[in-house]
Amino acid sequence: MPEQLTDKIVQLALRRGFFNPTAEIYRAPAGFYDLGPLGALVKSNLVSFWIDEFVRRETSYEVFLIDGSLILPYDVLKASGHVDKFSDPKASCKSCGRIYRVDQLIEEALGLKVEGKSLEELEQIVKTRGVRCPHCRGELSDFREHHLMFKLSVGGAEESAFLRPETAQNIFLNFKRITYGMRAKLPFGVAQVGKSFRNEIAPRQSVIRLREFSQMEIELFFAPNDERGPRGFEEVADTEIRILTREEQLHGGEEPIELKAGDAVAEGIVPNRFLAYYLAKEVRFFKLLGIPPENTRFRHLLPEETPHYSGGNFDLEVKFSFGWKEIVGNAYRRDYDLTVHSRGSGEDLSIDNNGVKMIPHVVEPSFGVERIIYAILEHSYREGERDWPLLKLPRIISPIKAAIFPLLDRENLTSKALDVYYALKRSRKAIPVYYDDRGSIGRRYARADEVGVNLCITIDYQTLQDDTVTVRDRDTAEQARVKISDLEDLIYNDMFRLEGV
Ligand code: GLY
Repeated sequence: MPEQLTDKIVQLALRRGFFNPTAEIYRAPAGFYDLGPLGALVKSNLVSFWIDEFVRRETSYEVFLIDGSLILPYDVLKASGHVDKFSDPKASCKSCGRIYRVDQLIEEALGLKVEGKSLEELEQIVKTRGVRCPHCRGELSDFREHHLMFKLSVGGAEESAFLRPETAQNIFLNFKRITYGMRAKLPFGVAQVGKSFRNEIAPRQSVIRLREFSQMEIELFFAPNDERGPRGFEEVADTEIRILTREEQLHGGEEPIELKAGDAVAEGIVPNRFLAYYLAKEVRFFKLLGIPPENTRFRHLLPEETPHYSGGNFDLEVKFSFGWKEIVGNAYRRDYDLTVHSRGSGEDLSIDNNGVKMIPHVVEPSFGVERIIYAILEHSYREGERDWPLLKLPRIISPIKAAIFPLLDRENLTSKALDVYYALKRSRKAIPVYYDDRGSIGRRYARADEVGVNLCITIDYQTLQDDTVTVRDRDTAEQARVKISDLEDLIYNDMFRLEGV
């Protein structure tokens, strides 16, 4: 059987230090991954780029960035609804003891969509349709709800806290302080990047479904009667967005409709301009990350998948080699969170908006970091263009911006190449570079291409005469002769080159 793209990405990730299972030298539980040296650089580049695009460069309203605690008290998650309603249905095999997520099992065995069905209904389907353990064909039993939060005992107290299941909650908890401390006026956003935790029954597909994962989230607070939307809405109103409508899904279809962000609101498909603004921004953001619009779609979640308080959820799904998967959740959470936390804490979280007391409404884009990294890797992986695999990563995301090679392993060339390398390392611009003098120059280009190094710099005999080097571009393999004194600026400018703007 030909090797699947996903196997190639995972092998590359393991071999070259993008990611690997946590504690892999032990028998560790699934759903935990460490980012290796290159993966950690990619993540840091992605997070910085996201903060630039969605926080620092946002001109439609202020967005404040916070960094909240990973551990949240029981009362917070009781009020938010997570304590009572945050579970997946599970069952175990009577013969081999394996545990399964029942809805997934039914979907895979029967191709049946079962969102929103109760545990009893799922058990009934398993029994009447003869769904059995996919591993040993044993009978399934012990159907129950599996809670998705990790319980903690803080200072020895029983069930006093949980690892947060989403970064969003810290934002609601800080809402009042931010409103006063930052003199924030509606509309405004609060952003956060950090870890969240969900005790999944059956995590799988490497970094796609994890028990510990990273989110980049914004809660955008606005007055519910604000129909003008964000200041910059007109700039994005003509952006084409692809929506997989509820009607299409009910007919079993997969074809999204394509319409302008402005029309999606005017036609009542997207509930407000704030949400449409984010959908349009996401199309642009992912295009810059090398994921073309035709490989994305916004799936309008069906009523049974949508939380009762939500005014509409649109999952940004990307076409992976193994099918469509959500990488960003977009939700219109209305006033739900601030209302339940006002009630739960006894603190009035309403604000004065131009003389009117109100609980603002919320639109939330929630980005899954590891899934996005995986999506970028799949979309940038190329075979057949060279005699070796090539990772055409967006320049801004590449973990390493330049590799420094002496043409041959000769003392005069290596010492000059090391001078160039250390000068770049020491630069205030702190450009990630590496030095490599092992093997043929062809092998070194191949090793660099495989991990998406933007530029390869070769020090040759001419360098010793005139202080120039060759600079090879990863994407075209073309070479140019450049002065050493121009290298720092050249590499630095190149790493901010965005394609598809
Ligand atoms: N805050 C939305 C989510 O974590 O899915």
